[in-house]
Amino acid sequence: MIPGGIFISFEGCDGSGKSTQFRLFADYLKERHYDIVLTREPGGTGISEQIRNVILDPANTEMHPMTEVLLFAASRAQHVRQLIQPSLLEGKIVLCDRFLDSSIAYQGYGREQGDCVRIINEYAVNGTLPDITFFLDLDPVHGRKRNISAGKTDRMELELMDFHNRVYNGYKDLSRIYK
Ligand code: TYD
Repeated sequence: MIPGGIFISFEGCDGSGKSTQFRLFADYLKERHYDIVLTREPGGTGISEQIRNVILDPANTEMHPMTEVLLFAASRAQHVRQLIQPSLLEGKIVLCDRFLDSSIAYQGYGREQGDCVRIINEYAVNGTLPDITFFLDLDPVHGRKRNISAGKTDRMELELMDFHNRVYNGYKDLSRIYK
């Protein structure tokens, strides 16, 4: 935790309604004139958004799971140092749509890359972890239906149901650990 600011992340499976809740919460804080920074992962800075495009491009079917782990971590390393840490030091409230828990759930559980995801990301986050995380707990069966009807088809969303079930189990384990 960096003294001054507050770091809040939103997590959940694809189609869980997370981004809607994120926007509603941001509007609530804006109306009350809090100094907030809205950001997302993967992304949030120019370099991190470029990495995002590589990660989510449906054409990149040959991407190895370890490459994916490292690209998410690289995007995060830049995001933390260029945007999140400086904003917290200025005393701002940083709202982030997804952060480290997404890598644990999607790459650790979904891609079955295990504990190396946590270890690699220790370097990426550089000691900066959310003060509060909201987990939108919606079963992936329902989330997938919502996404398909919204026409969302990035490389992660195209994964099979088994993958999304493993991600959901990862989130459930995390919410038990951090309850
Ligand atoms: P996005 O369109 O932002 O999805 P959502 O609206 O559901 O947040 O795409 C981000 C995708 O990347 C999403 O499927 C989750 C995945 N992801 C990971 O696999 N690992 C990560 O570390 C992060 C931050 C996201």
